[in-house]
Amino acid sequence: MLAAGHSLRCLEPLLVLSRRKSQAYLRAISVCVLLVFFWANLPLFASLEKRMLRNAYTPSSLGFEYKNLPGANDTVVVMRTGSTEIQDKLPIHMATTLRRYPDSIIFSDYEEDFENRQVIDALESVDSHLKDTNPDFELWRRLKQGGRSVLHQDELSGQSIWLDHGIGKAENPGWKLDKFKFLPMVNRTLHDYPDKKWYIFVEPDTFIFWQTLLVYLSNLDWTKSYYLGGEMQIGDVIFAHGGMGFIVSRPALESVVAQYQAHQREYEDFTEGHWAGDCVLGKALKDAGTSLTWAWPIFQGDDVGNMNYNYTKLWCQPTVSYHHVSPSVIQDLFDFEKTWMSDTNNTSFLRHRDIFKLFALPRMNATRTHWDNFCTDDRGPADSLQECRAICVADKSCLQYQVNAEDKCLTTSRPNVGQSATNTTSDWIFERVQEFYDQAEDCQGVRWIS
Ligand SMILES: *[C@@H]1O[C@H](CO)[C@@H](O)[C@H](O)[C@H]1NC(C)=O
Ligand SMILES: *[C@@H]1O[C@H](CO)[C@@H](O)[C@H](O)[C@H]1NC(C)=O
Ligand SMILES: *[C@@H]1O[C@H](CO)[C@@H](O)[C@H](O)[C@H]1NC(C)=O
Ligand SMILES: *[C@@H]1O[C@H](CO)[C@@H](O)[C@H](O)[C@H]1NC(C)=O
Ligand SMILES: *[C@@H]1O[C@H](CO)[C@@H](O)[C@H](O)[C@H]1NC(C)=O
Ligand SMILES: *[C@@H]1O[C@H](CO)[C@@H](O)[C@H](O)[C@H]1NC(C)=O
Ligand SMILES: *[C@@H]1O[C@H](CO)[C@@H](O)[C@H](O)[C@H]1NC(C)=O
Repeated sequence: MLAAGHSLRCLEPLLVLSRRKSQAYLRAISVCVLLVFFWANLPLFASLEKRMLRNAYTPSSLGFEYKNLPGANDTVVVMRTGSTEIQDKLPIHMATTLRRYPDSIIFSDYEEDFENRQVIDALESVDSHLKDTNPDFELWRRLKQGGRSVLHQDELSGQSIWLDHGIGKAENPGWKLDKFKFLPMVNRTLHDYPDKKWYIFVEPDTFIFWQTLLVYLSNLDWTKSYYLGGEMQIGDVIFAHGGMGFIVSRPALESVVAQYQAHQREYEDFTEGHWAGDCVLGKALKDAGTSLTWAWPIFQGDDVGNMNYNYTKLWCQPTVSYHHVSPSVIQDLFDFEKTWMSDTNNTSFLRHRDIFKLFALPRMNATRTHWDNFCTDDRGPADSLQECRAICVADKSCLQYQVNAEDKCLTTSRPNVGQSATNTTSDWIFERVQEFYDQAEDCQGVRWIS
């Protein structure tokens, strides 16, 4: 729960980058409150596909390109999921991203074998009195009794909307447990993998460009205490947003684990009164002497289909992570990265500019049905897509348009790929989107955020 006196503040870059997504809500509530929604994984836009694609993935064939990447053996990737979402969200990773990593570890709130992978109950070492008595552990106690079959349909992530009336307190029982996972998770990770240089924490709706991340890490000194990720603030704690993925170097992990082991009770008490596990971990890291390195825009809070490419601070920066990525987009990004890697060498990395050119542009080249390219400017009713296109063509600043489920024409001057959405048809004026790219700056050199 949001403790009294604690306000959530999004730091400047996040505020800017989430502007597009928030527009429908801006009139009613502030951007910061809104960010709590995203941060709480609220599936804002229709995510029908998650259900349709459930279990539909077959393992991709992977070549040497992933296994032999320089530095990969010095990492472990830590996936944090939960019993209410595992069936909807993990299979795509089993078939794609998890196969790239030499070492990975999966945490949930229930121990099980999932498609022949061990899934660890992150809560195993939480104080047993707390687990037996705290109402937030009601789900955990039920799972212990009867496994995932005890879950009700409306508790599963694919169906339930984690709406919380704007105060950051979500109703999903999986979410209530999630905050307790973080410190036990880092403790167990260090115990199982004490010798890695870098510990990479992700969630199932995070996508990481793996080679680009490894190139980034090769530019940093792992013997220093590092805690890298997309910045967020609650009260006076600045922390890395969990969904954007974050990285901890071994010295930082060792010190936070020592801190936790020495003060387990205090951190459990603090967690009980808090609502955000990534914030709890950020506080513990700070207590142990490691401050966050603000790594936006290398780490993104939004999906690759929902970027503000008009933001010059972003264009030439490398890009490592996206959040709110649906299973089908994870597949798309994974295939994209694989093709890109076969065309390049093991020291190359991707910038936002490269993603615009190589990933976004080819996806803006034809009409897409059941697709929402995030147009915002209401141009009134339209009888046809052609009529809407004509409105866009007549407005020199218009780059893209759509006819939505209510047969309204919407346009915008901000180029975006978008995401699947029932009954909306989207299109682009391709020459103008191409021109947007051609007119944007060229990129020279790179400054890795450290
Ligand atoms: C990583 O470790 C594996 C297994 O020990 C080894 O086969 C591979 O050569 C290593 N890769 C690199 C780049 O060192
Ligand atoms: C990276 O690529 C270079 C040049 O192609 C190659 O010599 C080197 O062995 C590669 N590194 C690894 C760890 O595969
Ligand atoms: C840390 O992990 C070890 C190994 O799993 C476990 O024995 C210990 O109880 C954990 N400590 C805390 C404070 O969770
Ligand atoms: C790898 O590719 C980049 C970009 O194409 C190039 O600048 C660099 O020289 C290449 N490095 C090697 C070792 O081939
Ligand atoms: C866009 O489509 C045209 C016609 O199909 C094709 O020639 C062109 O290469 C495409 N451009 C991109 C960037 O995909
Ligand atoms: C793009 O950025 C420029 C300069 O900041 C601004 O004038 C323009 O309105 C922006 N366009 C969009 C579509 O956000
Ligand atoms: C989409 O359109 C179909 C046919 O008009 C309609 O039956 C359906 O309810 C619509 N779905 C949504 C989500 O608007």
